[in-house]
Amino acid sequence: MFPKGFRWGASTAAYQIEGASSEGGRGPSIWDTFSHEPGRITDGSTGDVTCDHYHRYREDIDLLAGLGVDAYRFSIAWPRIQPDGTGPVNPDGVAFYDRLVDALLERGIDPVATLFHWDLPQALQDRGGWFNRETAYRFGEYADHVGAALGDRVRLWITLNEPFVHTVFGHGFGFHAPGEARMLGALPTAHHQLLGHGLAVAALRTRSASPITIANNHSPVRVIGDSDADRAAGAAYDALHNRLFVEPLLGLGYPEGFELPVRDGDLDIIAAPIDALGVNYYNPTGISAPTTDELPFDMVMLEGYPMTDFGWPVVPEGLTDLLTDLHTRYGRPMYVTESGCAYERWPEDPDRIEYLSGHVEAVRAAIAGGADVRGYFVWSIMDNFEWTEGFTKRFGLVHVDFDSQVRTPRSSYHWYRDFIASTR
Ligand code: NOJ
Repeated sequence: MFPKGFRWGASTAAYQIEGASSEGGRGPSIWDTFSHEPGRITDGSTGDVTCDHYHRYREDIDLLAGLGVDAYRFSIAWPRIQPDGTGPVNPDGVAFYDRLVDALLERGIDPVATLFHWDLPQALQDRGGWFNRETAYRFGEYADHVGAALGDRVRLWITLNEPFVHTVFGHGFGFHAPGEARMLGALPTAHHQLLGHGLAVAALRTRSASPITIANNHSPVRVIGDSDADRAAGAAYDALHNRLFVEPLLGLGYPEGFELPVRDGDLDIIAAPIDALGVNYYNPTGISAPTTDELPFDMVMLEGYPMTDFGWPVVPEGLTDLLTDLHTRYGRPMYVTESGCAYERWPEDPDRIEYLSGHVEAVRAAIAGGADVRGYFVWSIMDNFEWTEGFTKRFGLVHVDFDSQVRTPRSSYHWYRDFIASTR
């Protein structure tokens, strides 16, 4: 059984769905810059229009209401609120999220707002972005503005989305914005994001009574090989992927072995109490001993599992393992803030139904084993701009024709609607 009050939901992010990239006084973000650089995005696309949700949000909320979800997780575009990342708010930007939040509440859907889903104002990037410690303080101020505007109506706050991915893909490997490839030299951006998280928590507490969490990407580590070196590599990867972005938030400090620009008092700011852990889960990661000097591990493809269109292995039991492990390690309430898969097929998408049914059962098993899980959010309500993959990977319960903007629910949408109803 799912506990009383368990919230079923769906998730999106501003840059992936809103479009209207130069309307309503919005400033440019690092993803505008990056996606417009030739060669960065697989199909040469950008988020300029994408799902045009900025204009079609009412239709999209109808789709959410039709699913019967309790909650909708969206993100707020910082460059709509503060076009250059500092200073007073842009009233048109706030007005958009006012309308969105009110429309959700009218339909009985709890607004769950993420403050940062990777779309840093370009003006802050021009001053060093997350390498610059000042960005953390700007983020705290932005959180205060958002809290003042929406704090009475947002029901759950998420400070950062996947700081691991933003650090590693955006600043370590460079295949996400801002496109920096500094390998482990990216780590200062991790610390500054977490400092920003702590400052944002403090600001939100003065503006809102709603609970606060963070959406971390997690991946259970499967060690491939049975040497001590393989196991050590697995532990090193686990520390980077699963512990670095959680333990300091809980007052446990950083795991050993990372060089971070920590100043006196930072760890106290970062450890501002939060109410739950947010967990984005897609697949486990295979790790074995390193064969180069670049990183302390090698990443290995897991074999023997079905694959999504992304080539990601489908391993529902990995979610049970993960939630159980996080429960054992930290004993906190948790939300699955993202779970989903890329499959092109429509309108029938049996592979997505199988994926999702396996994963909700995995959550049920973790709860039965004692984990305190309070919600499950499917990524995503509709197909959208999948970052470096552009429009070539489709995660939606709803198919989007990006030429006509016609939305067509897939069979997985109907499955999720019926499944939610069956849990009531
Ligand atoms: C996690 C990210 O938060 C989201 O933006 C992305 O679309 C999904 N993973 C799928 O890759």
